[in-house]
Amino acid sequence: MAGRSVVVGVGHYLPERIVPNSEFEKTLDTSDEWIRTRSGIERRHFAADGETTSDLATKAAEAALADAGLTADDIDAIILATSTADLTFPSAATMVQARLGMTKGFAFDVQAVCAGFVFALSNANALILSGQAKRVLVIGAETFSRIMDWSDRSTCVLFGDGAGALILELQEGEGTAQDRGILATDLNSDGRYKDLLYVDGGVSTQSTGHLRMQGNQVFRHAVEKLAKTAETALSAVGLSNSDVDWIVPHQANIRIIQGTAKKMGLPMENVVVTVQDHGNTSAASIPLALSVGKERGQIKQRDLIVTEAIGGGLAWGSVVLRW
Ligand code: UT7
Repeated sequence: MAGRSVVVGVGHYLPERIVPNSEFEKTLDTSDEWIRTRSGIERRHFAADGETTSDLATKAAEAALADAGLTADDIDAIILATSTADLTFPSAATMVQARLGMTKGFAFDVQAVCAGFVFALSNANALILSGQAKRVLVIGAETFSRIMDWSDRSTCVLFGDGAGALILELQEGEGTAQDRGILATDLNSDGRYKDLLYVDGGVSTQSTGHLRMQGNQVFRHAVEKLAKTAETALSAVGLSNSDVDWIVPHQANIRIIQGTAKKMGLPMENVVVTVQDHGNTSAASIPLALSVGKERGQIKQRDLIVTEAIGGGLAWGSVVLRW
């Protein structure tokens, strides 16, 4: 027998305002055609004025709790992956905790940019397996529209806002790769690549700053590192790429998603793709894709899923779980 962190609920929230690629044609030297063919993005959601990351996160959390048939009282801990918290402090996670009416347990943010949800899942699993929590609400929520340079066509057309959440619960398994729940995780970072993707401001430099990215350099790292981290996590539990029912990748670019699937020897029929509708929502993209994938009827109980993500840091990693 072995303890496992099993997904018992999932949900998401997207801000109301949908912005099609054609909107950017009005202000920038760009085209719907370029954005579609280079990134796969067709539209994205942007938060309304005054709508914050913790607002989106709270709505996604409420949807996940409803899906699980649980209330905030049933949750021991909240981990919120974000790089765009409402305030410098307190954490967005504690703000969600208050909004949910949860007065026990603990809550904190994780900052690993686009890989944030994978890092949060791995940390939630560790809390559960070490006996520090029985049920953890894991959220990815972002308002990247707040850190865009709207005059930089190479970045501002790529990102969107949104939130996704899931609930992990301690359940007993057999200790085999047939168990439901998180089976393996693999986390990596290499700070030497800071200049490829960063925000040129922050608390200690006294500004908010804007996202800066050398997109084609990040692209090169992405395909190679994502396929490798997925294979590392799978092989840790004696599984291989051919065992995977669904790749649920970070949704940055359809060409990265296709390249990674190809490198893993899997057809696109085995990949959950939402990038066309959401753009790149950073740490929110994986829980959004899990929630939408379940809603579409793609992801079913006992399916073997590998999630993988890379972003600023560089930081990258993967989680293998049986749904
Ligand atoms: O989530 C965190 C991780 N981030 C990522 O994974 C993003 C990774 N990178 C990418 O998705 C792609 O590199 C991009 C979509 C950002 C760019 O695609 P690319 O095929 O790598 O294009 P590029 O950067 O090499 O640029 C090609 C051309 C350039 O023009 P020149 O120098 O060839 O004349 C750009 O100036 O496309 C130009 N360009 C645009 N043209 C029209 C860049 N942005 C735009 C735009 N509209 N919005």
